[in-house]
Amino acid sequence: MAEVILEVKNVVKTFDDFMALKGVSIKLRKGEFSALIGPNGAGKTTLYNVISGKFPPTSGEVVFDGRLVHGLPPHQLLRLGISRSFQLTNVFAGLTVRENFLAALVACHDRGKDLWNPLKRCKDLYEEAEHILEQLGLTHVTELPVKALSYGDKRLVEVGLALASRPKLVMLDEPTAGMNPEETDRMIHLLKKLSREMDTTFFLTEHDMKVVFSVADRIFVLHQGELLAEGSPAEIRENRKVKEAYLGERSVAGA
Ligand SMILES: Nc1ncnc2c1ncn2[C@@H]1O[C@H](COP(=O)(O)OP(=O)(O)OP(=O)(O)O)[C@@H](O)[C@H]1O
Ligand SMILES: [Mg+2]
Repeated sequence: MAEVILEVKNVVKTFDDFMALKGVSIKLRKGEFSALIGPNGAGKTTLYNVISGKFPPTSGEVVFDGRLVHGLPPHQLLRLGISRSFQLTNVFAGLTVRENFLAALVACHDRGKDLWNPLKRCKDLYEEAEHILEQLGLTHVTELPVKALSYGDKRLVEVGLALASRPKLVMLDEPTAGMNPEETDRMIHLLKKLSREMDTTFFLTEHDMKVVFSVADRIFVLHQGELLAEGSPAEIRENRKVKEAYLGERSVAGA
C-alpha cells in the first residue's frame, strides 16, 4: 500500500462554543485521489482551512510528509508542498493567462529577484508556464486577459495556479461549483488526466456526486463535524449510514 502523505489526527476545531470538527482523523496516501463529501455545514471547508494553515486546530495534529505542520502559515505549507486551489479573487483579471502563470511561478519558486531582469530571460519559467497551459488544455487562450475567459476556463486557470508550485498535495474546494454540465465534464476529464500524469496527491471537496464518483479512489464522508465513513467509491455508495445521512438525497446515477 502506498505511503501516507498526510495524516490528520483527532483534529478538533471550535468557533466560540460551536464544535465544527469533533476529533477528525484521516490518512491520505501518496498519489491517490481522495474526496471529502458531506452535507452543508459538515465541516469540510473547516478541515481544509486547518490543513492549509488558514487557522490552527483547537487540538489534534496534522502530519505532512513525516513532519508536524499544524499551526504553520499557508506560505510555509506551500513551500513544504501543500497547495490549495486559488480563489478567483487571487487571479489578476487584467493580466493574460500566461502572465498569471508567470507571476505564480515567480512567487512560488522564490524568483522575485529575477524581476530585475526582463522576464523573457527567465526561459525556464516561460517553459514551465507553457507546460502547465498545455496540460490544462488552455493554449488557445494564453494571450487573453483572464477577465475575457469563460467561467469554465477561469476555473481551470484556478486549478492550474494551484499546480504551479509543483505541490505534493493539491486541495481543491468545489472546483466545479457554478459550472454547467459541459464545463463539469471538462473538469472531470482534466482532473482524471492530471492525476494520471502527475506524481501528486489530490484532495477534493465537491457536492456534485458525478464528479466525486468519477475521479476519487477513496472517499471520506463528514457529517456534523465527525467522520461518518471512509472507503472506495463502491463501499461508500453501499454504506447504509452514508445513504441515510447524505447520499439518499443525491443522485449518483451519473457515476
Ligand atoms: N470562521 C467561522 N466562524 C464561526 N463558525 C464557522 C466558521 N467557519 C465555519 N463555521 C461553522 O462551522 C460549520 C462547518 O462549516 P464549513 O464551512 O466547514 O462546512 P462545509 O462542510 O464546508 O459546508 P458547505 O458544503 O456548505 O461548503 C458551519 O456550521 C459553519 O457555520
Ligand atoms: Mg465548504
